[in-house]
Amino acid sequence: MILALETSCDDTCAAVVDGDRIHSNVVSSQAEFHERYGGVVPEVASRHHLELVNAVVTAALDQAGTGLAEVDAVAVTQGPGLIGALLVGLSTAKALAAAHRKPLIPADHLHGHVAANFLEPDPLEPPFLCLIASGGHTLLAGVREHSSYETLGATVDDAAGEAFDKGARLLGLGYPGGPAIQGAAEGGDASAFEFPVAMRDRGLDFSFSGLKTSLVYRVRDLGAEETERRRADLAASFQKAIVDQLVAKLGRAARSGEWPAIALGGGVAANAELRERTEALCGELGLRLKLIPLSLCTDNAAMIGSAARYTQPIPYPEYLRFDAFATSSLRAA
Ligand code: KG4
Ligand code: ZN
Repeated sequence: MILALETSCDDTCAAVVDGDRIHSNVVSSQAEFHERYGGVVPEVASRHHLELVNAVVTAALDQAGTGLAEVDAVAVTQGPGLIGALLVGLSTAKALAAAHRKPLIPADHLHGHVAANFLEPDPLEPPFLCLIASGGHTLLAGVREHSSYETLGATVDDAAGEAFDKGARLLGLGYPGGPAIQGAAEGGDASAFEFPVAMRDRGLDFSFSGLKTSLVYRVRDLGAEETERRRADLAASFQKAIVDQLVAKLGRAARSGEWPAIALGGGVAANAELRERTEALCGELGLRLKLIPLSLCTDNAAMIGSAARYTQPIPYPEYLRFDAFATSSLRAA
């Protein structure tokens, strides 16, 4: 049984997992504190993690009906993410583990998003192709084993979730932008506006900054009143351009014939349009589709506990000198 902590961005998360079973998965979202700024403010995130982390860990243990003395190890996201936010989780995990002389398992956040697919219900076995799309990352992962993945393509500029968040801000919608754009797009005409789909027919990398710039000009040209009147059409068209690119790259990688299944991970994997279009792609190519529940798409600690199952534990007291890392990843290929 593993107690896992995740504090890499603006969600304070703790979970108890046992094999692929989730005993508890507690997420305390700080979104309301960041909404007024239209995005995550790193210093505000760190402060909130500090205030929330102990209560969130206690809730995770209570809901699992267990205690710290009963868990085999404490897992924690070591990076990548916001450095101040990561340090709160890492220091807490070190202290909890050290107090009981338990091992610590430092996990990679992106490996966690992949490993969410190894959990109940209906755990997926490698090999599979996995699109990870979140607020900070967008990459295509080739997963051949539980413990690692190969990066087949990644964004050269903004992440897909960042495009949703920035787009929502330009359209006067709330934060986080993904659910706001998805909601506003309902009833909108996705073919009303044409937005660029970068590098659709080239390579496996992604690019979203041109799309954002295109929306900036479109909103400026329409003016405030017209932008508001056409908001549903703008949101639907903008969402379609993001999903078009994600699905185009997924399809390109999948057509290699190497992967029997396609999986999704990261906050953007909660997007209904992306889920539908990925299902259609799998139908077209005759591949297995794996869609994890929405609660495992966005940041959570169960996925970190899952990644930790395939990561070498560090015995006490070796981990006390461990540090968090903001960008480079120890385990990402
Ligand atoms: O994985 P996540 O919770 O945190 C990071 O690791 O970044 O992803 C958060 C991102 C945000 O950019 C948010 O706007 C996006 O996921 N997101 C969505 C949806 N729900 C969350 N994007 C599109 N559609 C959604 N339904
Ligand atoms: Zn994430």
